[in-house]
Amino acid sequence: MRIGILTSGGDCPGLNAVIRGAVLKGIKVGGHEFVGFRDGWRGVVEGDIVELPRHSVRGISKQGGTILGTSRTNPFDGDGGPSRIGQTLENLGIDAVIAIGGEGTLAAAKRLTDAGLKIVGVPKTVDNDLDATDYTFGFDTAVQIATEAIDRLRTTGESHHRCMVAEVMGRNVGWIALHSGMASGAHAILIPEQQVSMEQVCNWVLTARDRGRAPLVVVAEGFVPAHLKAPHSERGLDTFGRARLGGIADQIALSIEERTGIESRATVLGHIQRGGVPSAFDRVLATRLGMAAVDSVTQGLWGTMVSLNGTNIERVGFDAALGNLKRVPQDRYDEAAILFG
Ligand code: F6P
Repeated sequence: MRIGILTSGGDCPGLNAVIRGAVLKGIKVGGHEFVGFRDGWRGVVEGDIVELPRHSVRGISKQGGTILGTSRTNPFDGDGGPSRIGQTLENLGIDAVIAIGGEGTLAAAKRLTDAGLKIVGVPKTVDNDLDATDYTFGFDTAVQIATEAIDRLRTTGESHHRCMVAEVMGRNVGWIALHSGMASGAHAILIPEQQVSMEQVCNWVLTARDRGRAPLVVVAEGFVPAHLKAPHSERGLDTFGRARLGGIADQIALSIEERTGIESRATVLGHIQRGGVPSAFDRVLATRLGMAAVDSVTQGLWGTMVSLNGTNIERVGFDAALGNLKRVPQDRYDEAAILFG
C-alpha cells in the first residue's frame, strides 16, 4: 500500500518518532510505501506531499518538532471536504492516511472516515487531555522541561526572598502543572479543574514564607481564579476560534504582591515546553504508536486510533477519544494539595 502521514495541530516532542516507527515497520514488515503531507490537512487538501523513503526517517526520533510541518488547517474549510480529498488521494495513488493529531484532528478524521475515506489516527496532545489513552507522547518531555525551569526559578526566588509564579501549558486540564508542580515541590498548584480564591492562594504563599521559604506557585494557563469567569486571554483567537491563552501568571503575581506585600515575579514558559528533544519515554511511546498505526492500516481498522492502556498499545474508535477530556481527578488534586503552603 501507499500510505500518507500527516501531523496536525500544535507540534509536540515525539512526532518524528511516530513517523519513523510507522515508516520503518511499514517498509520492513508490510512492504508499504510512504509519503508525508506537508503542514497537516493543508497538504492533504492541496496534494502537497513529500516521499518518505527509509533514509528520510534516519535518526529523526530524537528531533523535536515535525519533519512534515504542521498547521491548524481545518480540512473542511474552503475547497476541502471528503470528495476533494478523496480525489486528491486517488490522483496521488495514496491508499490510506495516518493522521497524527489532537482532538480537532481526530474529529476531522472521524468525519472523513464516516464519508468513506481510509484513515487511522495517532493521538497527540502535550496537555495529556485525551480521555481514551493513558498518556500522550510529548507530555513527559513537557513536564521534564517545566520541572527544570521551575527548579531554576526556585533558586532565584530563594536568593531574593521573592514569590515566584511559573505558568505552564494546560488549556483545559492541569496535568503539566500538577506533575511539574509536584516534582518541583510547589507551595501551590493552580489548574483549570479547580476554582481557587486568591485569598486561599495567598494563605498558601504566606504559610510558606512564614516557614522561611521563598513561595513557589505553579499555574496552568487555563486556570480561572474564583473571582473570574473565563481563562485569561488578551491575544485574540487562534484559527480554530479558540482564545489564545497566556498571561494568568502576571495577574496572580500582581495580586499576591498587593495582598501579601511579598515581592513577586511571574514567568510564562510557553512554547519552550513543546520544543526540542523528546524524552526517552516519549520516544519509545511514540515509536510504538507509529508501528501500531501501520498495523491498523494493514488490518483496515479505519476510524480507530492507537492508544496506550497500561503498558499495552490498543485500538479505540475515534468516538472514544472525542467529547471527553481527561481532567485531573479530584483525588489527584487533593493528594497534591496536602503538601501546599
Ligand atoms: O493544545 C496544546 C497547546 O500547547 C495548549 O496548551 C496551548 O493553549 C496551545 O496549544 C497553544 O497553541 P499555539 O501553538 O497555536 O499557540
